[in-house]
Amino acid sequence: MPGPEVRVFEQPSDLATEAAEFLVWLSQQRLTHRSSFHVALSGGSTPTALYQRLATNYAMHVNWPQVEWYFGDERCVPADHPDSNYRMAHQALLGPLRVPADRIFPMDGGNPNPYKAAEQYEEIIRRRVPADASGWPRFDLILLGLGDDGHTASLFPGSPALKVHDRAVVATEASRGVRRRLTLTVPVLNHARTVLFLVTGAEKAAAVFHVLEDPRADPLDYPAKFVAPREGRLLWYLDRSAAGRLSGTRQQLVFDEE
Ligand code: 6PG
Repeated sequence: MPGPEVRVFEQPSDLATEAAEFLVWLSQQRLTHRSSFHVALSGGSTPTALYQRLATNYAMHVNWPQVEWYFGDERCVPADHPDSNYRMAHQALLGPLRVPADRIFPMDGGNPNPYKAAEQYEEIIRRRVPADASGWPRFDLILLGLGDDGHTASLFPGSPALKVHDRAVVATEASRGVRRRLTLTVPVLNHARTVLFLVTGAEKAAAVFHVLEDPRADPLDYPAKFVAPREGRLLWYLDRSAAGRLSGTRQQLVFDEE
């Protein structure tokens, strides 16, 4: 299993542009021999700039109707709630890109029974996302963010969800913000073809260090450390601030590579 590919960008805007270029390239590659491209979107605020770029600068670069849009996690709020990840993605990307509703698969955050919502989403992704030889849904791309506490998706430090290995989606509790959540589990993340973390801001630097370079850090304390696709690519796109605690070799900025 190859290690993470870390790329450091001077500015968050450079990171968003490169992430858009990468997603477009990856979907074009995949769609040359597949009829669909299955991507799970990240919530939070970091990916907004990426989503806006895809919807504007790249609207003509991909046969978007061949893309199926899923979610890595969701807050248990209605779809029109300000805290809804679906709402953010629809405003920034799916609406402006005019994605038909039958290509969007949101988690049912508004369901008063999150456990039922998790079961329903599990059924959807197992039905629609092609499985690998081990029977796990294998997303073409999963976008993830990182909290300053090392959480990713809605997999929070110390959460029982971190020890789920027989389900693809679980209802869980967050230690901050909207408490009740739905999230993909570690096994699904680790069966993806490509996982791309997008992380910016100095407040994330300590968590980035513990996840990427601290051998003593326990994944139960820094859940993003569990993410290591068995047969897939793991990419970390960081801005210089978020990479501030990494060793010099990893401080190499992208434009230095070109
Ligand atoms: C969520 C996200 C979560 C997010 C991180 C980073 O539902 O909030 O899935 O994992 O990616 O908390 O959030 P920011 O991008 O807002 O810093």
